[in-house]
Amino acid sequence: MIYVDNNATTRLADEVAQALSEAYEAGYLNPSSQHQAGQKARRRLDDARETILNLIGGEITRFASDRLIFTSGGTEANNLALFGLGKETGGQVIISAIEHPSIAEAADQLRSKGTTIRTLPVNSEGVVQYQSLEEWLGEPTRLVSVMMANNETGVIQPISEIAQICSRKEVPLHVDAVQAIGKIPVNFRALGAAAMTISPHKFHGPRGIGALVLDDQVKLNPSMFGGSQQLAMRPGTESVELAIGFERAIQLAIQAMPEAGIQMQKLRDRLETALSEQLGPERITINGAGGVRLPHTSNLAFPGIDRQALVMALDMAGVACSTGSACASGSSEPSPTLLAMGLDEAVVSGSIRLSLSRFTSEADIDEVAGRISNCVNRLRRR
Ligand SMILES: Cc1ncc(COP(=O)(O)O)c(C=O)c1O
Repeated sequence: MIYVDNNATTRLADEVAQALSEAYEAGYLNPSSQHQAGQKARRRLDDARETILNLIGGEITRFASDRLIFTSGGTEANNLALFGLGKETGGQVIISAIEHPSIAEAADQLRSKGTTIRTLPVNSEGVVQYQSLEEWLGEPTRLVSVMMANNETGVIQPISEIAQICSRKEVPLHVDAVQAIGKIPVNFRALGAAAMTISPHKFHGPRGIGALVLDDQVKLNPSMFGGSQQLAMRPGTESVELAIGFERAIQLAIQAMPEAGIQMQKLRDRLETALSEQLGPERITINGAGGVRLPHTSNLAFPGIDRQALVMALDMAGVACSTGSACASGSSEPSPTLLAMGLDEAVVSGSIRLSLSRFTSEADIDEVAGRISNCVNRLRRR
Protein backbone atom coordinates (compact mmCIF):
# COMPACT_ATOMS: atom_id res chain seq x y z
CA MET A 1 0.00 0.00 0.00
CA ILE A 2 1.29 3.45 -0.88
CA TYR A 3 0.27 5.92 1.79
CA VAL A 4 -0.46 9.44 0.54
CA ASP A 5 -2.82 10.50 3.32
CA ASN A 6 -0.29 12.15 5.61
CA ASN A 7 -2.55 15.11 6.41
CA ALA A 8 -4.81 12.60 8.21
CA THR A 9 -1.93 11.18 10.21
CA THR A 10 1.66 10.06 9.70
CA ARG A 11 3.56 6.94 10.60
CA LEU A 12 5.68 7.13 13.72
CA ALA A 13 9.35 7.91 12.92
CA ASP A 14 11.69 5.11 14.05
CA GLU A 15 13.57 7.51 16.32
CA VAL A 16 10.29 8.56 17.95
CA ALA A 17 9.31 4.93 18.53
CA GLN A 18 12.73 4.45 20.13
CA ALA A 19 12.33 7.56 22.34
CA LEU A 20 8.86 6.41 23.43
CA SER A 21 10.09 2.93 24.21
CA GLU A 22 13.00 4.29 26.28
CA ALA A 23 10.63 6.66 28.08
CA TYR A 24 8.28 3.81 29.01
CA GLU A 25 11.24 1.74 30.15
CA ALA A 26 12.52 4.62 32.28
CA GLY A 27 9.42 4.17 34.44
CA TYR A 28 8.33 7.78 34.88
CA LEU A 29 5.67 8.30 37.52
CA ASN A 30 3.19 11.08 38.28
CA PRO A 31 4.88 14.46 37.69
CA SER A 32 2.70 16.00 40.42
CA SER A 33 3.91 13.59 43.12
CA GLN A 34 6.07 15.13 45.81
CA HIS A 35 8.51 12.25 46.13
CA GLN A 36 11.77 12.14 44.22
CA ALA A 37 10.38 9.88 41.48
CA GLY A 38 7.61 12.42 40.88
CA GLN A 39 10.13 15.25 40.79
CA LYS A 40 12.20 13.37 38.23
CA ALA A 41 9.11 13.00 36.02
CA ARG A 42 8.32 16.72 36.48
CA ARG A 43 11.82 17.75 35.42
CA ARG A 44 11.66 15.58 32.30
CA LEU A 45 8.21 16.92 31.40
CA ASP A 46 9.39 20.51 31.86
CA ASP A 47 12.45 19.79 29.70
CA ALA A 48 10.27 18.44 26.89
CA ARG A 49 7.99 21.45 27.15
CA GLU A 50 10.94 23.85 26.99
CA THR A 51 12.53 22.11 24.01
CA ILE A 52 9.28 22.17 22.05
CA LEU A 53 8.69 25.83 22.89
CA ASN A 54 12.22 26.75 21.82
CA LEU A 55 11.86 24.90 18.53
CA ILE A 56 8.70 26.76 17.57
CA GLY A 57 10.00 30.17 18.58
CA GLY A 58 8.33 30.52 21.96
CA GLU A 59 10.08 32.74 24.46
CA ILE A 60 11.34 31.51 27.80
CA THR A 61 13.31 34.20 29.62
CA ARG A 62 13.51 35.56 33.14
CA PHE A 63 11.06 38.29 32.12
CA ALA A 64 8.58 36.53 29.90
CA SER A 65 7.72 32.92 29.60
CA ASP A 66 5.36 31.59 26.97
CA ARG A 67 3.49 28.51 28.02
CA LEU A 68 2.79 25.22 26.40
CA ILE A 69 -0.30 23.38 27.57
CA PHE A 70 -0.26 19.69 26.69
CA THR A 71 -3.60 18.37 25.45
CA SER A 72 -4.81 15.11 23.94
CA GLY A 73 -4.32 16.46 20.39
CA GLY A 74 -5.13 19.28 17.98
CA THR A 75 -8.90 18.97 18.41
CA GLU A 76 -8.74 19.50 22.16
CA ALA A 77 -6.26 22.39 21.82
CA ASN A 78 -8.54 24.10 19.28
CA ASN A 79 -11.59 23.61 21.51
CA LEU A 80 -9.69 24.95 24.53
CA ALA A 81 -8.72 28.03 22.53
CA LEU A 82 -12.16 28.73 21.17
CA PHE A 83 -13.97 28.33 24.48
CA GLY A 84 -11.30 29.65 26.80
CA LEU A 85 -9.27 32.48 25.27
CA GLY A 86 -9.91 36.20 25.50
CA LYS A 87 -11.12 38.66 28.08
CA GLU A 88 -14.00 40.32 26.21
CA THR A 89 -16.90 38.37 27.73
CA GLY A 90 -19.90 38.46 25.47
CA GLY A 91 -17.79 39.64 22.51
CA GLN A 92 -18.02 38.13 19.06
CA VAL A 93 -15.69 35.41 17.76
CA ILE A 94 -14.28 35.62 14.24
CA ILE A 95 -13.07 32.55 12.34
CA SER A 96 -12.42 31.81 8.66
CA ALA A 97 -14.67 29.86 6.29
CA ILE A 98 -12.15 27.03 5.94
CA GLU A 99 -11.31 26.14 9.52
CA HIS A 100 -10.98 22.49 10.56
CA PRO A 101 -14.18 21.07 12.13
CA SER A 102 -12.53 21.32 15.57
CA ILE A 103 -12.78 25.11 15.18
CA ALA A 104 -15.85 25.39 12.93
CA GLU A 105 -18.02 23.08 15.03
CA ALA A 106 -16.78 24.53 18.32
CA ALA A 107 -17.86 27.89 16.88
CA ASP A 108 -21.30 26.39 16.09
CA GLN A 109 -21.56 25.44 19.77
CA LEU A 110 -20.72 28.98 20.83
CA ARG A 111 -23.28 30.32 18.34
CA SER A 112 -25.97 28.05 19.77
CA LYS A 113 -25.26 29.57 23.19
CA GLY A 114 -25.63 33.14 21.92
CA THR A 115 -22.13 34.19 20.77
CA THR A 116 -22.03 36.07 17.48
CA ILE A 117 -19.75 34.22 15.06
CA ARG A 118 -18.44 36.05 12.00
CA THR A 119 -16.71 34.25 9.20
CA LEU A 120 -13.96 35.63 6.98
CA PRO A 121 -14.50 34.39 3.40
CA VAL A 122 -11.88 32.85 1.09
CA ASN A 123 -11.23 33.54 -2.58
CA SER A 124 -11.35 30.88 -5.31
CA GLU A 125 -7.75 29.89 -4.51
CA GLY A 126 -8.62 29.20 -0.88
CA VAL A 127 -6.88 32.27 0.58
CA VAL A 128 -8.62 33.96 3.54
CA GLN A 129 -9.86 37.46 2.68
CA TYR A 130 -9.31 39.70 5.69
CA GLN A 131 -10.26 43.12 4.26
CA SER A 132 -13.31 43.43 6.56
CA LEU A 133 -11.42 42.32 9.68
CA GLU A 134 -10.36 45.77 10.87
CA GLU A 135 -13.93 47.07 10.59
CA TRP A 136 -15.38 43.97 12.30
CA LEU A 137 -12.93 44.42 15.16
CA GLY A 138 -14.57 47.79 15.82
CA GLU A 139 -17.15 45.73 17.71
CA PRO A 140 -16.36 43.96 21.00
CA THR A 141 -14.48 40.81 19.99
CA ARG A 142 -13.28 38.05 22.28
CA LEU A 143 -11.15 36.11 19.81
CA VAL A 144 -10.07 35.68 16.19
CA SER A 145 -9.05 32.19 15.04
CA VAL A 146 -7.53 31.55 11.61
CA MET A 147 -5.52 28.50 10.52
CA MET A 148 -1.95 28.80 9.27
CA ALA A 149 -2.45 26.40 6.37
CA ASN A 150 -5.49 24.50 5.19
CA ASN A 151 -5.62 20.74 5.72
CA GLU A 152 -7.40 20.03 2.44
CA THR A 153 -5.68 22.32 -0.08
CA GLY A 154 -2.46 23.10 1.80
CA VAL A 155 -2.97 26.79 1.04
CA ILE A 156 -0.93 28.98 3.42
CA GLN A 157 -2.91 31.85 4.92
CA PRO A 158 -1.93 35.52 5.41
CA ILE A 159 -1.45 35.11 9.17
CA SER A 160 1.13 37.90 9.64
CA GLU A 161 -1.24 40.45 8.12
CA ILE A 162 -4.15 39.17 10.21
CA ALA A 163 -1.97 39.15 13.36
CA GLN A 164 -0.97 42.77 12.78
CA ILE A 165 -4.60 43.88 12.57
CA CYS A 166 -5.53 41.88 15.69
CA SER A 167 -2.60 43.30 17.61
CA ARG A 168 -3.51 46.91 16.61
CA LYS A 169 -7.03 46.26 17.88
CA GLU A 170 -5.77 44.36 20.96
CA VAL A 171 -7.81 41.27 20.17
CA PRO A 172 -6.15 37.87 20.74
CA LEU A 173 -5.48 35.74 17.65
CA HIS A 174 -5.42 31.94 17.81
CA VAL A 175 -3.66 30.10 14.98
CA ASP A 176 -4.27 26.44 14.17
CA ALA A 177 -0.80 25.48 12.94
CA VAL A 178 -1.46 21.73 12.92
CA GLN A 179 -0.67 21.20 9.22
CA ALA A 180 2.09 23.80 8.99
CA ILE A 181 4.50 22.66 11.73
CA GLY A 182 7.37 20.66 10.28
CA LYS A 183 6.44 21.68 6.72
CA ILE A 184 7.25 25.41 6.74
CA PRO A 185 9.18 27.54 9.25
CA VAL A 186 6.95 28.67 12.13
CA ASN A 187 8.02 31.16 14.77
CA PHE A 188 5.39 31.79 17.42
CA ARG A 189 6.87 35.06 18.74
CA ALA A 190 7.49 36.51 15.28
CA LEU A 191 3.91 35.66 14.33
CA GLY A 192 2.49 37.87 17.06
CA ALA A 193 -0.36 35.47 17.84
CA ALA A 194 -1.77 34.92 21.32
CA ALA A 195 -2.08 31.16 20.94
CA MET A 196 -1.20 28.36 18.54
CA THR A 197 -2.23 24.71 18.17
CA ILE A 198 0.24 21.88 17.43
CA SER A 199 -0.39 18.18 16.87
CA PRO A 200 2.65 15.87 16.61
CA HIS A 201 0.91 12.94 14.91
CA LYS A 202 0.96 15.09 11.76
CA PHE A 203 4.78 15.06 11.77
CA HIS A 204 5.62 11.44 12.62
CA GLY A 205 5.03 11.88 16.35
CA PRO A 206 2.65 10.02 18.67
CA ARG A 207 -1.14 10.23 18.53
CA GLY A 208 -2.82 11.14 21.82
CA ILE A 209 -0.91 14.33 22.58
CA GLY A 210 -1.02 17.89 21.25
CA ALA A 211 -0.41 21.35 22.58
CA LEU A 212 -1.81 24.82 22.86
CA VAL A 213 1.00 27.38 23.00
CA LEU A 214 0.13 30.58 24.85
CA ASP A 215 1.78 33.98 24.87
CA ASP A 216 2.83 34.78 28.45
CA GLN A 217 0.28 37.60 28.70
CA VAL A 218 -2.65 35.42 27.70
CA LYS A 219 -5.19 33.99 30.07
CA LEU A 220 -6.94 30.73 29.27
CA ASN A 221 -10.17 29.77 31.00
CA PRO A 222 -10.22 26.01 31.54
CA SER A 223 -12.79 23.70 29.98
CA MET A 224 -12.08 20.96 32.52
CA PHE A 225 -11.84 21.10 36.28
CA GLY A 226 -10.51 18.98 39.08
CA GLY A 227 -6.74 19.36 39.25
CA SER A 228 -4.00 21.95 39.46
CA GLN A 229 -1.82 20.52 36.68
CA GLN A 230 -0.72 22.91 33.93
CA LEU A 231 -1.72 25.94 36.03
CA ALA A 232 -5.23 24.44 36.29
CA MET A 233 -5.78 25.55 32.68
CA ARG A 234 -5.84 21.92 31.55
CA PRO A 235 -5.97 19.68 34.60
CA GLY A 236 -5.19 15.97 34.50
CA THR A 237 -2.05 13.85 34.98
CA GLU A 238 0.35 14.56 32.15
CA SER A 239 1.95 11.77 30.09
CA VAL A 240 5.70 12.30 30.36
CA GLU A 241 6.23 9.52 27.79
CA LEU A 242 4.02 11.10 25.11
CA ALA A 243 5.62 14.49 25.80
CA ILE A 244 9.03 12.88 25.16
CA GLY A 245 7.74 11.40 21.89
CA PHE A 246 6.35 14.81 20.91
CA GLU A 247 9.71 16.44 21.71
CA ARG A 248 11.65 13.92 19.60
CA ALA A 249 9.21 14.23 16.69
CA ILE A 250 9.43 18.01 16.53
CA GLN A 251 13.23 17.94 16.80
CA LEU A 252 13.40 15.56 13.84
CA ALA A 253 10.77 17.37 11.79
CA ILE A 254 12.41 20.76 12.14
CA GLN A 255 15.86 19.34 11.52
CA ALA A 256 14.66 17.58 8.36
CA MET A 257 12.50 20.46 7.11
CA PRO A 258 14.89 22.42 4.86
CA GLU A 259 15.67 19.37 2.72
CA ALA A 260 12.41 17.54 3.20
CA GLY A 261 10.38 20.61 2.21
CA ILE A 262 12.19 20.90 -1.12
CA GLN A 263 11.99 17.15 -1.71
CA MET A 264 8.25 16.91 -0.95
CA GLN A 265 7.47 19.89 -3.18
CA LYS A 266 9.49 18.35 -6.01
CA LEU A 267 7.57 15.09 -5.66
CA ARG A 268 4.20 16.85 -5.32
CA ASP A 269 4.92 18.83 -8.52
CA ARG A 270 6.10 15.65 -10.26
CA LEU A 271 2.81 13.96 -9.36
CA GLU A 272 0.70 16.85 -10.61
CA THR A 273 2.69 17.12 -13.86
CA ALA A 274 2.52 13.36 -14.48
CA LEU A 275 -1.25 13.30 -13.97
CA SER A 276 -1.77 16.28 -16.20
CA GLU A 277 0.30 14.61 -18.94
CA GLN A 278 -1.28 11.18 -18.57
CA LEU A 279 -4.90 12.34 -18.37
CA GLY A 280 -4.71 15.60 -20.37
CA PRO A 281 -4.55 19.01 -18.69
CA GLU A 282 -8.24 19.70 -19.39
CA ARG A 283 -9.27 16.68 -17.30
CA ILE A 284 -7.64 17.72 -14.05
CA THR A 285 -7.69 20.84 -11.89
CA ILE A 286 -5.37 21.56 -8.99
CA ASN A 287 -7.44 23.23 -6.27
CA GLY A 288 -5.67 26.13 -4.59
CA ALA A 289 -2.76 26.09 -7.05
CA GLY A 290 -2.99 29.87 -7.36
CA GLY A 291 -2.23 30.27 -3.64
CA VAL A 292 1.05 29.54 -1.87
CA ARG A 293 0.77 25.93 -0.75
CA LEU A 294 2.42 23.68 1.82
CA PRO A 295 4.99 21.58 -0.07
CA HIS A 296 3.33 18.21 0.45
CA THR A 297 -0.40 18.69 -0.20
CA SER A 298 -2.21 18.28 -3.49
CA ASN A 299 -5.97 18.67 -3.85
CA LEU A 300 -6.92 17.37 -7.27
CA ALA A 301 -10.24 17.57 -9.09
CA PHE A 302 -11.24 15.12 -11.79
CA PRO A 303 -14.48 16.73 -12.98
CA GLY A 304 -17.12 14.16 -13.87
CA ILE A 305 -15.65 11.52 -11.53
CA ASP A 306 -17.24 10.77 -8.17
CA ARG A 307 -14.65 11.40 -5.43
CA GLN A 308 -15.89 8.58 -3.19
CA ALA A 309 -15.77 6.08 -6.07
CA LEU A 310 -12.25 7.22 -6.92
CA VAL A 311 -10.95 6.97 -3.35
CA MET A 312 -12.45 3.47 -3.08
CA ALA A 313 -11.01 2.38 -6.44
CA LEU A 314 -7.60 3.71 -5.38
CA ASP A 315 -7.85 1.87 -2.08
CA MET A 316 -8.45 -1.36 -4.01
CA ALA A 317 -5.46 -0.45 -6.21
CA GLY A 318 -3.24 -0.02 -3.13
CA VAL A 319 -3.22 3.77 -2.80
CA ALA A 320 -4.42 5.27 0.49
CA CYS A 321 -5.67 8.84 0.07
CA SER A 322 -8.79 10.73 1.07
CA THR A 323 -11.65 12.93 -0.02
CA GLY A 324 -10.73 15.63 2.48
CA SER A 325 -10.38 15.89 6.22
CA ALA A 326 -10.33 12.50 7.91
CA CYS A 327 -13.15 13.44 10.27
CA ALA A 328 -15.46 13.96 7.29
CA SER A 329 -14.35 10.96 5.23
CA GLY A 330 -16.78 8.14 5.07
CA SER A 331 -19.56 10.68 4.91
CA SER A 332 -20.88 11.92 1.60
CA GLU A 333 -20.70 15.57 2.64
CA PRO A 334 -18.87 17.73 0.11
CA SER A 335 -15.75 19.50 1.37
CA PRO A 336 -16.63 22.75 3.21
CA THR A 337 -13.26 24.18 2.16
CA LEU A 338 -13.87 23.61 -1.57
CA LEU A 339 -17.45 24.88 -1.23
CA ALA A 340 -16.20 28.04 0.52
CA MET A 341 -13.85 28.57 -2.44
CA GLY A 342 -16.96 28.74 -4.65
CA LEU A 343 -15.76 25.96 -6.96
CA ASP A 344 -18.06 24.32 -9.52
CA GLU A 345 -20.10 21.39 -8.29
CA ALA A 346 -18.33 19.01 -10.69
CA VAL A 347 -14.99 20.09 -9.23
CA VAL A 348 -16.14 19.74 -5.62
CA SER A 349 -17.67 16.32 -6.18
CA GLY A 350 -14.62 15.09 -8.10
CA SER A 351 -11.85 16.21 -5.74
CA ILE A 352 -9.46 14.07 -3.73
CA ARG A 353 -6.54 14.94 -1.45
CA LEU A 354 -3.07 13.47 -1.68
CA SER A 355 -0.60 14.35 1.05
CA LEU A 356 3.03 13.27 1.08
CA SER A 357 5.56 13.00 3.87
CA ARG A 358 9.32 13.16 4.17
CA PHE A 359 9.30 9.37 3.73
CA THR A 360 7.50 9.43 0.35
CA SER A 361 9.80 8.34 -2.48
CA GLU A 362 9.97 9.15 -6.20
CA ALA A 363 9.05 5.54 -6.97
CA ASP A 364 5.93 5.91 -4.76
CA ILE A 365 4.89 9.01 -6.66
CA ASP A 366 5.37 7.48 -10.13
CA GLU A 367 3.37 4.46 -9.02
CA VAL A 368 0.61 6.63 -7.51
CA ALA A 369 0.35 8.71 -10.71
CA GLY A 370 -0.01 5.57 -12.83
CA ARG A 371 -2.63 4.02 -10.56
CA ILE A 372 -4.67 7.25 -10.37
CA SER A 373 -4.64 7.57 -14.17
CA ASN A 374 -5.80 3.97 -14.53
CA CYS A 375 -8.59 4.37 -11.99
CA VAL A 376 -9.78 7.68 -13.47
CA ASN A 377 -9.81 6.23 -16.99
CA ARG A 378 -11.68 3.14 -15.80
CA LEU A 379 -14.29 5.21 -13.93
CA ARG A 380 -14.71 7.49 -16.95
CA ARG A 381 -15.47 4.55 -19.23
CA ARG A 382 -18.23 3.36 -16.88
C1 LIG B 1 -5.89 21.90 10.48
C2 LIG B 1 -6.21 20.87 11.52
N1 LIG B 1 -6.54 21.26 12.74
C3 LIG B 1 -6.84 20.39 13.72
C4 LIG B 1 -6.81 19.04 13.48
C5 LIG B 1 -7.15 18.09 14.60
O1 LIG B 1 -6.00 17.52 15.14
P1 LIG B 1 -6.04 16.12 15.93
O2 LIG B 1 -6.22 15.06 14.88
O3 LIG B 1 -4.69 16.06 16.59
O4 LIG B 1 -7.14 16.18 16.90
C6 LIG B 1 -6.48 18.57 12.20
C7 LIG B 1 -6.49 17.11 11.90
O5 LIG B 1 -6.72 16.70 10.80
C8 LIG B 1 -6.16 19.52 11.20
O6 LIG B 1 -5.83 19.11 9.97
